[in-house]
Amino acid sequence: MSKIILTGDRPTGRLHIGHYVGSLRRRVELQNSGTFDEIYIMIADAQALTDNMDNPDKVRSNIIEVALDYLACGLDPAKSNLLIQSMIPELTELTFYYMNLVTVARLQRNPTVKTEIQMRKFENNSIPVGFFNYPISQAADITAFRATTVPVGEDQEPMIEQTREIVRKFNSVYGETLVEPEILLPETAAALRLPGTDGHAKMSKSLGNCIYLSDEADVIKKKVMSMYTDPGHLRVEDPGKVEGNTVFTYLDAFATQEQIERLAPEYANLEEIKDHYRRGGLGDVKVKKLLNNVLQETLEPIRLRRHEYEKDIAAVYDVLKKGTEVAEAKAAETLHDVREAMKINYFDSKELVVEQQKFFDQAAAERAQKNRRR
Ligand code: TRP
Repeated sequence: MSKIILTGDRPTGRLHIGHYVGSLRRRVELQNSGTFDEIYIMIADAQALTDNMDNPDKVRSNIIEVALDYLACGLDPAKSNLLIQSMIPELTELTFYYMNLVTVARLQRNPTVKTEIQMRKFENNSIPVGFFNYPISQAADITAFRATTVPVGEDQEPMIEQTREIVRKFNSVYGETLVEPEILLPETAAALRLPGTDGHAKMSKSLGNCIYLSDEADVIKKKVMSMYTDPGHLRVEDPGKVEGNTVFTYLDAFATQEQIERLAPEYANLEEIKDHYRRGGLGDVKVKKLLNNVLQETLEPIRLRRHEYEKDIAAVYDVLKKGTEVAEAKAAETLHDVREAMKINYFDSKELVVEQQKFFDQAAAERAQKNRRR
């Protein structure tokens, strides 16, 4: 069986370093590993509209921002198809059929939907049907491309689980048709969910605690220098806490051993730095400076590549158009199989006509026989 990747992001803002350690970095590695036969990276604009229906300009303008971030990180159109979700009508049709396989109660139990409903402060009766339904639409995204592997952050786990249930249900009712995907989570705990610069559990645009992939060097530095650390670590000599200390969480997620050896040569590795901080005698400013150096090294090539792509926006749209065309052809194949399995392929089923003709001919013959007997 082919190995196929599908993953994506909602175009509601520029991508930040939480996206990077949680998923983007891994995608690029997987892409370059050469072990996948097909790769689809989706800009999920239709999904973004499920809770931004009153803000089409936001979604529209962020499609290009996300595409630029993808290319800047090293997603390569020669290896990965970058596509726009709403440009593939097959996805909505699949969603419509899958809706019959899922109960309202099951959607209500989906933990991601639950937290998002709370976060967005939808009152009990103001949840749009489309929003409520988006896990089913996401199952269509994944299955349309027969994805075997979905590299995403931990928050997407309930979505993949729901997709797997839909696949099993579909296959048991209509026959083996869809592929059950597997989730691929980030390897390290620190990358599972990068906290915001303020220490809040989640990096999010609305909280204003993000470092964006496209932030300029001085902006990154400013954000790092004002990061949340250990509020009990007041003087340099005080013992400090490393757990829950955002600066160390970021170092865990970003710093390589090579960088530690080069940028902090007084220490053998990150563990030694942590030990020093715990003992006391290591100041926040020093650790922040190290983190800043690490982040600058990681983000500079990404930012420079982005600026290159920004010079030719038409070419970026061309990349999206080509990726979307390849993706649509694939989705159309799956939809064809789905329609066949569901027996709603009336016009391309020769057997249907032959069988039904036989039925009516037989009825006619029986009528004729009865008439003769009379
Ligand atoms: N729900 C994902 C997010 O919030 C975006 C997304 C849409 C997605 N369709 C997908 C992710 C399919 C993986 C697979 O970022």
